[in-house]
Amino acid sequence: MSTTPFHLTDKTILITGASSGIGRQTAIECAAMGAKVILTARNDGRLNNVMAELPGSGHSTFTCDLLNALDVSALVNYIGAVDGVVHCAGLVKPFPVSFLTREKMDETIHTNFYTVVELTTALFKAKKVNRGASMVFLSSISGQHPHKGGSMYASSKAALEAFSKTVALEYAAKAIRANCISPAMVKTPMFDDAVAGLSAQAMDEHVAKYPLGVGLPEDIARAAVFLLSPAARWITGTNLVMDGGLLLEY
Ligand SMILES: NC(=O)c1ccc[n+]([C@@H]2O[C@H](COP(=O)([O-])OP(=O)(O)OC[C@H]3O[C@@H](n4cnc5c(N)ncnc54)[C@H](OP(=O)(O)O)[C@@H]3O)[C@@H](O)[C@H]2O)c1
Repeated sequence: MSTTPFHLTDKTILITGASSGIGRQTAIECAAMGAKVILTARNDGRLNNVMAELPGSGHSTFTCDLLNALDVSALVNYIGAVDGVVHCAGLVKPFPVSFLTREKMDETIHTNFYTVVELTTALFKAKKVNRGASMVFLSSISGQHPHKGGSMYASSKAALEAFSKTVALEYAAKAIRANCISPAMVKTPMFDDAVAGLSAQAMDEHVAKYPLGVGLPEDIARAAVFLLSPAARWITGTNLVMDGGLLLEY
């Protein structure tokens, strides 16, 4: 058994959005560091594919639409107490401010913010969060640096950052920590969707602004592993910006 504080040996970690992108890679990295992971998302085929990639044993999947209260309740009933949660589920749907409707606002705010709050609340109510646990919330640099067309996405992430800090305050007495990770562009299916509308030239110009290039899912996943691990026991209420240097000149 490892004695390094950077390990996740014997920890049970719940990962939302585990069927794709950052969530998928976080599941792989957590399992490689000794955790038992519970993968959740809507698409069971993709969840099973990720499950098949995991090293170690004792992992499980639970198909759940986080927008469906019954699904969330079933998920919380299904799992035992966890030592960490990585909230990766999210969507990006850009609209200019003048095109916003209540339906469009609800879709983004509900998926990116309310579902995270509802799952967190349900886990605490059911006493499914162990003393010493760590919660990691996937925000975005957009939460502090909004982009045109991203009003709802940026607002949902800013709200998430405030929520994470409140969880940190309310649960510090139980040594439960809460932190955000705020990435800039990371190469995932969400990234592919976001750039689909851009010309190759516009894309090249944007990528050139990153001193270290754009991110990979493993860059974010490894930071999540650190925040979940005992090595981060004194870190709570923070927001780790991961941008390959993008914001240095802003
Ligand atoms: N990629 C980037 O450049 C970037 C940058 C900054 C922040 N982020 C944030 O990082 C997180 C992960 O992004 P990603 O790039 O990995 O995205 P992704 O590849 O599109 O994955 C999104 C995940 O969310 C799940 N999901 C969406 N709606 C759901 C729902 N209603 N119920 C349950 N699961 C749901 C999807 O699973 P199913 O479809 O199977 O349900 C999928 O696993 C997001 O919160 C995103 O805002 C990403």
